[in-house]
Amino acid sequence: MNYSEIVKEKFEKLKIQKDVIILSIESSCDETSIAVVKNGREVLSNIVASQIEIHRRFGGVVPEVASRNHVSAISSIFDLALKEAGIVKENIDAVAVTFGAGLIGALLVGVNFAKALAYTLQVPLIKVSHVMGHIGANYISYQELTPPFICLMISGGHTAILKVEDYNKHTLLGSTVDDAVGEAFDKVARVLGLNYPGGPEIDRVARDGKPNYNFTVSKSLKNTLNFSFSGIKTEVVNLVHNMHQRGEDIPVCDIACSFQECVTDELADKAIKACFKTGIKKLVVAGGVGANSRLKEKLSKICKENDIEYFSPLLKYCTDNGAMIASAGFYMLKSGLGLADLSLTASAVVPL
Ligand code: KG4
Ligand code: ZN
Repeated sequence: MNYSEIVKEKFEKLKIQKDVIILSIESSCDETSIAVVKNGREVLSNIVASQIEIHRRFGGVVPEVASRNHVSAISSIFDLALKEAGIVKENIDAVAVTFGAGLIGALLVGVNFAKALAYTLQVPLIKVSHVMGHIGANYISYQELTPPFICLMISGGHTAILKVEDYNKHTLLGSTVDDAVGEAFDKVARVLGLNYPGGPEIDRVARDGKPNYNFTVSKSLKNTLNFSFSGIKTEVVNLVHNMHQRGEDIPVCDIACSFQECVTDELADKAIKACFKTGIKKLVVAGGVGANSRLKEKLSKICKENDIEYFSPLLKYCTDNGAMIASAGFYMLKSGLGLADLSLTASAVVPL
């Protein structure tokens, strides 16, 4: 039997096997991460090597630099992930990998490593969408969480509201018509002279600011569950630019605070509207922007007031990590989905 025949049989067996150990690989952007997760929820190890310090001096992720750093990190991270999980590679039942969306060169490092590993061990390879991984971050943060729920997906590349009907079934209720919210955070931080990545920096300096600038988001989307962040981003960029031209000091904390207030109001408002519209009183946040402290504050208050259960992933699972990919991969496997062959390649874009 050849590889694909062997793994098809193994895949079928794993669907009903009691305990399944998945080793997962995430390399879509600037984090190289490998995790070992049992039954989709029990994290045995989750090693994350961040390249943030390397990219900081460029003010953003440089794709070529990211790919090279994934290459140099991935083997030692693999060793560490096995060691910390207390397993040997023969204990791995399946390999899950992020195949998109993300930076092609960066993704290819993880995809090729995963293919080589799956082939060597003769185990199934599961292809996982990065965005579905972000939802999986909640399953490892909350052991009791099950679909259906409303998911507010907010990362550097995506902004959307999903109705998650089952582990592998969802409907898109709304999405951004232009920039992702994380992109807006990063851009605004950059014009304010803050470090990369901008989201956590805005979160930090906003605590010392007052919301005394009246920024707005698109009124034309008011009655929809869609978002637009390019207008507010340009509003901030122009304001700062004009202040620079007039030689004025930039009130960084106040601008950051005003921007954050406006954006988090919009996110919270539409997430709650989605719960009301669908009658689903369970809200799950996914993606890096979910780490925003002001958004968390607002959502936990508004959910409590409206009797909605609120889930936000633990901080360590909020931004990119391997464990979330294993969780999503596990539920795909159990539904008989995602089995890839050795022709698997990376995709810059994966539809939601
Ligand atoms: O999910 P993620 O790690 O990667 C993508 O899939 O894009 O999200 C990264 C985004 C970045 O734009 C980053 O600035 C933002 O999440 N972010 C935050 C915070 N922490 C990370 N945005 C606002 N507040 C934060 N505390
Ligand atoms: Zn991500």
